[in-house]
Amino acid sequence: MSIALVILAAGKGTRMNSDLPKVLHPIAQAPMLEHAMAAGRALAPERTIIVAGHGAEAVRAAVSEIDEEAEVVLQEEQLGTAHAVDQARAALTGFEGDVIVLYGDTPFVSAETLELMVEARQRADLVLLGFEAADPGRYGRLVMEGDSLERIVEFKDASDAERAIRFCNSGLMAGKASAIFDLIAKVGNKNASGEYYLTDLVELARREGLKVTAVSCDEAETLGVNSRAELAQADALFQARARAELLDLGVTMMAPETVYLAFDSVIGRDTVIEPNVVFGPGVTVESGALIRSFSYMEDCHISRGAQVGPFARLRPGAELAESTRIGNFVEIKNSKIAEGAKVNHLSYIGDAFVGEAANIGAGTITCNYDGVMKHRTEIGARAFIGSNTMLVAPVRVGNEAMTATGAVVTRNVEDGDLAIGRAEQTNKPGRARKLMDMLRAKKARLQKGAK
Ligand code: UD1
Ligand code: CA
Repeated sequence: MSIALVILAAGKGTRMNSDLPKVLHPIAQAPMLEHAMAAGRALAPERTIIVAGHGAEAVRAAVSEIDEEAEVVLQEEQLGTAHAVDQARAALTGFEGDVIVLYGDTPFVSAETLELMVEARQRADLVLLGFEAADPGRYGRLVMEGDSLERIVEFKDASDAERAIRFCNSGLMAGKASAIFDLIAKVGNKNASGEYYLTDLVELARREGLKVTAVSCDEAETLGVNSRAELAQADALFQARARAELLDLGVTMMAPETVYLAFDSVIGRDTVIEPNVVFGPGVTVESGALIRSFSYMEDCHISRGAQVGPFARLRPGAELAESTRIGNFVEIKNSKIAEGAKVNHLSYIGDAFVGEAANIGAGTITCNYDGVMKHRTEIGARAFIGSNTMLVAPVRVGNEAMTATGAVVTRNVEDGDLAIGRAEQTNKPGRARKLMDMLRAKKARLQKGAK
């Protein structure tokens, strides 16, 4: 059965109090919409349709970056969840498969749960997703009879017996596209909020003799985000799960609750992560690496046995080969550091290649930017860069070459050569003592005059 995902993302998210559309607020550094899309992608959908409204242009731009094939349709006015799904009708003309309705602000639904819904479609025309609520207070109740979903009762309309039901509505739904759109056409808006409710499909379907059922998932999967506080809770939940997974995979974290992960962090076994480390998006770490405290990484790769930090910053395009050492207050950007090379203290390496086993002295800077363009620096294998060297790119330092401490290197250094680029030192015998005496005498005169 081919599948079309319809992901509702038009709501304003008033309680977020933000210029950014709610579904673009990030959880673990990916828009919450991306989390929902990722779960849906596990079903290999033929079509993915995002219903956007508030901030539609921003949503459209974000969606095109997440999945080029996803389509965005516009819901100009937010007239309710059924009306929102109806906006996908035109795009799905002639589509013969199933529609699965997801919410862009319900990011944690799992691929397994969606698969359960698809499976249940073998037995029923319409499948809702429910969950056993710890505190069912505010949710609509799913009234089941055996395997059959009889109706959804909103809390305010529920009898005492119905209020005792803890099986609640997540809002997610699956059904044959044609059936869903036929039923939506019959939904009215004569209710308290004057909205077209997707939940009305249950009763309409039953009236037409269609089979309706519900499957169950963990309550955490249906967690919705409506405020910054809930966003923070959602992020915390994601972090807790991601850390637990990594610990299971054999990663050591000395203080797991202080390690901030991204949605796509990949970390190999026997890697050790010290407290207070931040993973931005796109970081992969092989096995047996050591990431020391207060390091911040994004879009970079760290190979087996490499050591990073404390206080290191790895920016996009940093590629550390095996057994490299990146020490404190070092920033690496768009640079490959070859096997066994060391950049141990206080350096900026940008747009560079650092050869095998090269040693970069403290305070070395690749001067890669001339104010208009970026230029590359190449450092050969086993080169030794003296402390406080300025490498004015474009420039190359050869294999086994050296630069003297404090050198400003503006020309290439051939293999095996030594570059010295600094003013020559001259010593003046006794001059320091004379200078000090002179200055002290001057200070004494000034103090006397002031009295
Ligand atoms: C909905 C369900 C409720 C369920 C709850 C779970 C309905 C009528 N109610 O209520 O049974 O328990 O979810 O969280 O379906 N949206 C649009 N366009 C609209 C309206 C909504 O795109 O015109 C989107 C929102 O951005 C949001 C989602 O649909 O992502 C859900 O809408 P929301 O208003 O939050 O529905 P609830 O009141 O939470
Ligand atoms: Ca909601």
